[in-house]
Amino acid sequence: MNNDLRAELIQRAIRAKETSYSPYSKFRVGAAVLTGDGEIFSGCNVENASYGLAICAERNAIFQMAFAGKRKIVAVAVTSDETTFITPCGACRQVISEFAGPGTEILLITKNKKIKSVKFGKIFPAPPSLEKLKK
Ligand code: THU
Repeated sequence: MNNDLRAELIQRAIRAKETSYSPYSKFRVGAAVLTGDGEIFSGCNVENASYGLAICAERNAIFQMAFAGKRKIVAVAVTSDETTFITPCGACRQVISEFAGPGTEILLITKNKKIKSVKFGKIFPAPPSLEKLKK
């Protein structure tokens, strides 16, 4: 990923956070994914009065990507209002794994724009082997 794309991806995640619908947790999250063909899709968390129905920012962004017909994630950016790094939840890691590989870059961004990059394989080292289901 070149520096311009990286900066754009980070900005899109930060911007997505602005539309977070999180009246229950008051925890705003924004995410953006970069596809294999250089497109960016972003999303925010959207909560519900039936608490368990909340959707995370990462999955919101990924589902929009899938709806646009894209199937490959090269990088993911995630940000919140915390001064510490937040990482995707277990459900989102599973969903990321559908379209990503161990080398996919996960960019974590704090409120103060501190950035940390980790490889997806590091935070989700043993994806379930469900390839057979695709046949
Ligand atoms: N949340 C995300 O959107 N992404 C994460 O990586 C962690 C958690 C959301 C879910 C819920 O709306 C709120 O943050 C508090 O958990």
